[in-house]
Amino acid sequence: MTQLLWRELGPEFGVEVMGVEPQVPLAENVIAQLRELFDAKGLLVLRDIDADPRFQTYLSRLLIGEEPLANGMAGLDAAVGERQLLVSNREPGSSAPMGRLLYHSDYMWSPDVFRLLSLYGVKVEEPTSPTMFVSAVRAWETLPDDLRARVEGRFAIHGQDATYQQRAGGDADVLVSKFAVDETLRLPVGHRHPRTGVTLLYVAQQMTHRIDGMDDAASEALLEELFDHLYRPENVVEHHWREHDLVLWDNIALQHARPNIMIEGPARTLRKTFAPAPTMAAEMRPAFTTVGA
Ligand SMILES: [Fe+2]
Repeated sequence: MTQLLWRELGPEFGVEVMGVEPQVPLAENVIAQLRELFDAKGLLVLRDIDADPRFQTYLSRLLIGEEPLANGMAGLDAAVGERQLLVSNREPGSSAPMGRLLYHSDYMWSPDVFRLLSLYGVKVEEPTSPTMFVSAVRAWETLPDDLRARVEGRFAIHGQDATYQQRAGGDADVLVSKFAVDETLRLPVGHRHPRTGVTLLYVAQQMTHRIDGMDDAASEALLEELFDHLYRPENVVEHHWREHDLVLWDNIALQHARPNIMIEGPARTLRKTFAPAPTMAAEMRPAFTTVGA
């Protein structure tokens, strides 16, 4: 039986896992260990791994409890073709090619929110921007009593329009994603994770419009206090990219962000996959600009 080795990336979440061979299928005991680590730690980093799109898709689906080979290898290969894209400042047609990203969970405003995201370092020139993560699990656990009392029973409205620009603090480099359709979703501020059952502090700089039932100023003031807690430095794990890094995270339990990326800066091309398979979201690629554009 293979016993995986791993090390903590932060005091509360995130692990680097060593010794995973990128093969399909993985051994049952390796799958069990990876699933357990993923649910406990939210963020897995595998370095120096030769992960092709098929392995990346396979592992992404495995970690959220799916059986990616339920329909055989042909089923997996069909899934590989469903959606992967590049996050790149070089490749034409890439997602989020430039700019700074405020903290968010991808498609947090959708009932079909992705449960897992993964990125693989295809081309990485130094120095490049890291990806930053915070844990909404940890943020809820450590929420001060007075703040907890103020959000108890409250709901937040999440959306994908560009109202978050006001939170850029005057930073012209903040990326603005414009979607064709304006959907919103109302969820408890203390949202329960659909798979693990833990409670999350479920508000985000880039995705949360307001606290339901409060006037705009009071809502924004309360959100600012929640963001100060959620994004405090002790709750941040940074991933500094190298080529052949495979990074997989729980897109509901964790939020991610990044400092500015410039088109003319060092090349940074990351291959992204989503799990489960996108439904409506596949048709909703946003247009990207920056606050200052
Ligand atoms: Fe994202």
